[in-house]
Amino acid sequence: MAFNELQTSNIVVIGTGYVGLPAALMLAKAGHKVVGVDIDENIVHAINEGVLLVKGEQLQEIMDDPTVRQNLKAQSTPCEADVFIIAVPTPLDKKNNAANLEMVIEATNSIVPHLCEGNLIILESTVPPLTCRNVMTPIIEASGLTVGNNIYLAHCPERILPGDIFYEIVHNDRIIGASDSVSQDLAARLYNSFVKGELLITDDVTAEFVKLIENTYRDVNIALANELSSVAQSLQIDTGTAINLANRHPRVNILQPGIGVGGHCIPIDPWFIKQVDEQNSRLINTARLINDEMPSKITNQIKVATQNINNPHIIAVGAAYKANTADTRESPAIEIVRLLRSEGYKVDHFDPLVEEMNFPTNIIDACTNADCLVILVEHGSVVTSLDKHKQDILNALTTPLILRF
Ligand SMILES: NC(=O)c1ccc[n+]([C@@H]2O[C@H](COP(=O)([O-])OP(=O)(O)OC[C@H]3O[C@@H](n4cnc5c(N)ncnc54)[C@H](O)[C@@H]3O)[C@@H](O)[C@H]2O)c1
Repeated sequence: MAFNELQTSNIVVIGTGYVGLPAALMLAKAGHKVVGVDIDENIVHAINEGVLLVKGEQLQEIMDDPTVRQNLKAQSTPCEADVFIIAVPTPLDKKNNAANLEMVIEATNSIVPHLCEGNLIILESTVPPLTCRNVMTPIIEASGLTVGNNIYLAHCPERILPGDIFYEIVHNDRIIGASDSVSQDLAARLYNSFVKGELLITDDVTAEFVKLIENTYRDVNIALANELSSVAQSLQIDTGTAINLANRHPRVNILQPGIGVGGHCIPIDPWFIKQVDEQNSRLINTARLINDEMPSKITNQIKVATQNINNPHIIAVGAAYKANTADTRESPAIEIVRLLRSEGYKVDHFDPLVEEMNFPTNIIDACTNADCLVILVEHGSVVTSLDKHKQDILNALTTPLILRF
């Protein structure tokens, strides 16, 4: 049956990870019959048991909702449906600094045998511009159906912030991109069933580009802050003071410098722009290089700060790619610890939010007989405990040295 004939529909979500699972849960909660499809059997099993592999209180609450339990099931292969949502990874091919679209291609191929006239296919994965037109459309049309005529395709990129997924998936404005008005309309109707933010309709290529420029904007601005911080250091002035004073200008808002950028989006998406127009992406390219250099610059700062200590024993706190999440993907903190260890430094690495990296006891005991505490990620709980126990931590350290960036 065609999607546009139904109030609620049968939906297959291909890839039930950070992006696909919350979408599947929200659609099931809105009354649709949802099948989550994942090649990872553990994920399939967990969803069918009502267990979450991605931790989150709100996620569990929605998973436990009886409507969701009734409407959501998981399996490892696709089946027929009215709507197919693809939310598989699009990692960076680090050799070429370009998108690896293998999983999008595989996922699209996997639904072809199940496609029927009137179906809607939505790509939520982040992709380089023209992926819907040049990569997905030919695969879909191998079924004998024609996109925009009797089968429909939209790109609706995900903008959720890890750590606040459920507020954002509902309340963020959402980009709906498609090359024809029927696909736009069908996709808008689907998201309307759970999104409270505004649905912003555009074409597919613009939608693909918009997702990338959001993260590129962040990357370039963070690179500017990091570059200013390096200049301030060579001038031996305080970066924070300089940036705060500059930000008193009514039209200036410089971000805070840091140890680099991480996660699934910011260090990756700008490359997808460069791959489609290298000549016009010089600033984007430079920003990428500046942010990627940060872990080695911070490593050097730690080495300089500890140069008078014989065989320094360092306690590094924070492994997530940013404060207040447990997500360690592309984490600059992990890269810094790797660099220090590769040069023979003794580093114990903890993160109170990353399950397998919790403090064995507490931060004060962890610092006992160590030389230096390095705070790599300023999680709220770490800052609170530092404020509360600073003197005890300094007393516990052999060389009282706390480094923050
Ligand atoms: N994580 C985020 O915060 C975030 C935010 C916005 C956009 N994105 C984008 O969303 C996409 C998905 O990212 P994610 O973080 O959810 O990835 P993820 O790794 O958490 O989940 C993807 C899932 O897809 C499954 N999978 C891979 N190939 C498959 C196939 N052929 N059939 C069925 N399942 C398959 C994997 O087993 C995995 O469970 C990426 O393009 C990413 O860039 C992610």
